[in-house]
Amino acid sequence: MTPHAVAELYDSWSSFQNSRLDAYPCELHIHRTVMLEHLSPGSRILDVGAGPGRYAIELSRAGHRIVAGDVSPIQVELARRNVAEAGVALGQDDGEADDRPSAGVESVDELDAVDLSRFPNESFDAVVALGPFYHLQSIDERRRAASEVTRVLRPGGILFASFMPRAFWLSMALHTFVTDPAAPSAQLEELERLLERGLLGKVRSPQLKASWFCRIEEIAPLFSEQGLDQIRLLASSGVVAVWSRPDTWRGLAEREPVVRRKVLDLVLRTASDPYVLGMSDQVLFIGKKSP
Ligand SMILES: C[S@@+](CC[C@H](N)C(=O)[O-])C[C@H]1O[C@@H](n2cnc3c(N)ncnc32)[C@H](O)[C@@H]1O
Repeated sequence: MTPHAVAELYDSWSSFQNSRLDAYPCELHIHRTVMLEHLSPGSRILDVGAGPGRYAIELSRAGHRIVAGDVSPIQVELARRNVAEAGVALGQDDGEADDRPSAGVESVDELDAVDLSRFPNESFDAVVALGPFYHLQSIDERRRAASEVTRVLRPGGILFASFMPRAFWLSMALHTFVTDPAAPSAQLEELERLLERGLLGKVRSPQLKASWFCRIEEIAPLFSEQGLDQIRLLASSGVVAVWSRPDTWRGLAEREPVVRRKVLDLVLRTASDPYVLGMSDQVLFIGKKSP
């Protein structure tokens, strides 16, 4: 999948992406909670694959300074608009006199995670990459991106990177297969390909066709070979991933806000259980660059 094809995919998928984190609130709850636990105050953060900019907004509100980028020009436009509408400072000079950067969004630009050459070595305290690794379908591309995000981190800096586990997406693909009367038996071969290589070439969904589905044990070595070691791995919606639907969350928010809060906390409490990781739609890798 070329960067251009991924950009086209997200260019045409902007309204869903813009509301996704509200429709599926678990992911935002878990990611925001653990990010804030691991970030040092006043960090300068690269958010690559920032999409509509929700994390850039959340992190800048928590006192950090964000450089955001995305391969999709439409997502870049959307992020700029959302940042402005959220009242977050965008593109202002870092006028702080001390050595901490001022909070806000420094810039939002087109950017490809496999080539971060516009940024000097060790220029960020943290990197957030919630998106690029879903679509890097060859090991060479994944290694290039892993090398780039590590290079731009300062020693001791933190990486947050998301992945799509193969077991969960096999379950989804199987469900589509067994419930779709028009599914040709050729699709069974696709499922073999998914099991062996983590790819789904002939399905209808352009998103799934453009994705790479990881095995959990493939994640840590991708970064450790660059000098960045895992400190945590969490399921982003673990125990609720199989039933997580926008209408279910909406109903809970309206009828049972206390229960909703407890469900979110329970998902967080169980997020590091190794038996839960593979059955989550996404997992969040947190790594630290060797000091
Ligand atoms: C599922 S969206 C997630 C957006 C945002 N990070 C969030 O969590 O809400 C994935 C984003 O990653 C971007 N993306 C995919 N591959 C990328 C790459 N190689 N470099 C930069 N952005 C990329 C897509 O354009 C898309 O906006």
